Amino acid sequence: MPQLYIPEVNRCLLCYDAKCSKACPSGIDPAKLIRSVYFDNEVGAELSIRSDKACLTCDAPCQKACVLDEDPIRIKGVMETLHEMAEDLDPEDFENEVDLSCDFCGVKLENPFLLSSSVVASSYDKIARAFEAGWAGAAFKTICVFTPREVSPRYAVTKDSGHFVGFKNVEQLSQDSLDEDLEIIRKLKEKYPTKVIFASIMGRNEKEWETLAGKVEKAGADVVECNFSCPNMEDDGLGSDIGQNPIAVGKFTAAARKGCKIPLIVKLTPNVASMTPMVDAAMENGADGIAAINTIKSLMGMNLDTFVTEPTVNGYSGVGGYSGKAVKPIALRFIHEIASNPKHKNIPITGMGGIETWSDAVEFMLLGANHVQVTTAVMEYGYRIVDDMIEGLKHYLSGKDLKSAGELVRKGVNSVADLDDLDRESILYPKFELSKCNGCGRCYISCRDGGHDAITMKDDKPRMNPSACVGCHLCVYVCPEFAILGSGSRRIKGRGVFGTPSKKVKNKAPKKKDN
Ligand SMILES: Cc1cc2nc3c(=O)[nH]c(=O)nc-3n(C[C@H](O)[C@H](O)[C@H](O)COP(=O)(O)O)c2cc1C
Repeated sequence: MPQLYIPEVNRCLLCYDAKCSKACPSGIDPAKLIRSVYFDNEVGAELSIRSDKACLTCDAPCQKACVLDEDPIRIKGVMETLHEMAEDLDPEDFENEVDLSCDFCGVKLENPFLLSSSVVASSYDKIARAFEAGWAGAAFKTICVFTPREVSPRYAVTKDSGHFVGFKNVEQLSQDSLDEDLEIIRKLKEKYPTKVIFASIMGRNEKEWETLAGKVEKAGADVVECNFSCPNMEDDGLGSDIGQNPIAVGKFTAAARKGCKIPLIVKLTPNVASMTPMVDAAMENGADGIAAINTIKSLMGMNLDTFVTEPTVNGYSGVGGYSGKAVKPIALRFIHEIASNPKHKNIPITGMGGIETWSDAVEFMLLGANHVQVTTAVMEYGYRIVDDMIEGLKHYLSGKDLKSAGELVRKGVNSVADLDDLDRESILYPKFELSKCNGCGRCYISCRDGGHDAITMKDDKPRMNPSACVGCHLCVYVCPEFAILGSGSRRIKGRGVFGTPSKKVKNKAPKKKDN
């Protein structure tokens, strides 16, 4: 079963009101446990099942109840694997008190997880439900003084094994009137005073930026977030048109600053080569922090019969914003660029782009974000994902003997060196664990055709030739069994792999950046 464990978990539909859990005679919630594993909170799942061995002797009515009736998820096998893995776990490692709260521009968040500005944070009922589920706050759907005209359909997705990889939207701003949105913020703050509201705003001129900032402050918002980044605006000169132009960023930041006293941040677009000029312009004109990233301009889903991309609106489509887990590396790169900006020490950053799990959030925080925001994962899986974010982060901090989430912030910023400063004098050879190899030969094919021809197959097992291997690690990434590790031996180039040096080489250590 262990090798089936991950595919089975990935195949689960993560149902609403799951029939498997309802069918469990022992009150175990297999749907929740599988969901925890899916969202990286395996430790949480193992801890919660370890003392209840009912699954080990049960004839698995959960499995019979699975909605995939032709090929149900092997739930019993997943539960058995969790029990097996739980045996190696010491619960005491995860019992330390940890503090998940974060400070952002002087505003206290009970945990690092906020909804980002979008449909997921667009009504009283939705946001109230999210708060009840555990989200620390919400960046309200961008408020403006006009009513944007939206199209139908407005989304498109790329998927892998049924799950979103990337998500495109061509949506604009809030559909409510200004007064309706202000009333929602007022009511939310009244009912949930400890939850945090960022009010995302968009003006069409300086007066509107100033007025909107003042009005949302008066309604009770904790932070004003200027939307300089929506790539989907019907009219020119709005959204990402501003975020690509440092003069406009400076002008409209200053206007919004005039309108309010609460913390003011600007949300920037990734549709630029570098965010630095925009960050500088915002900070020099009164911003207190930066939000990044909004969505990336994209086209996708070309229909091979009609020759139109998705979403298709009466025979046409348009360039629209891409989000979801595919964009995370691009977001992380911008977060690091902002965090390492030498002009602005410890700049407060609210990070987003492709976050689905607590571990994604940790990556953002290590590279400089003070906390994170999420949209696409909530659109796909619902507000409930915050359970595993909170629990998974607690277990991670406790397991690492860290006392608070705040200790993560910026810890990895200095690990990013210029490419010309990286060590180019040594090779890290992959390590083959042949006992785990199933002989599929995927490493051989990739190395032969896309690598450096350093693997041969003998008796259905790969053999690595160290004199041809350049240590690129393509084999590590194609192995479906995790039988090739990227943690083999590092050796200085130019030495016989198992012999004496053939020539002297100088090892160059990366320079540490000063932040
Ligand atoms: C359907 C949709 C609507 C969005 N609307 C807004 C918006 O009104 N204002 C805004 O600042 N960002 C908006 N965004 C961008 C998100 O807030 C977020 O910056 C982006 O999607 C990246 O995060 P994610 O990968 O977690 O979705 C929207 C995103 C989506 C998918």
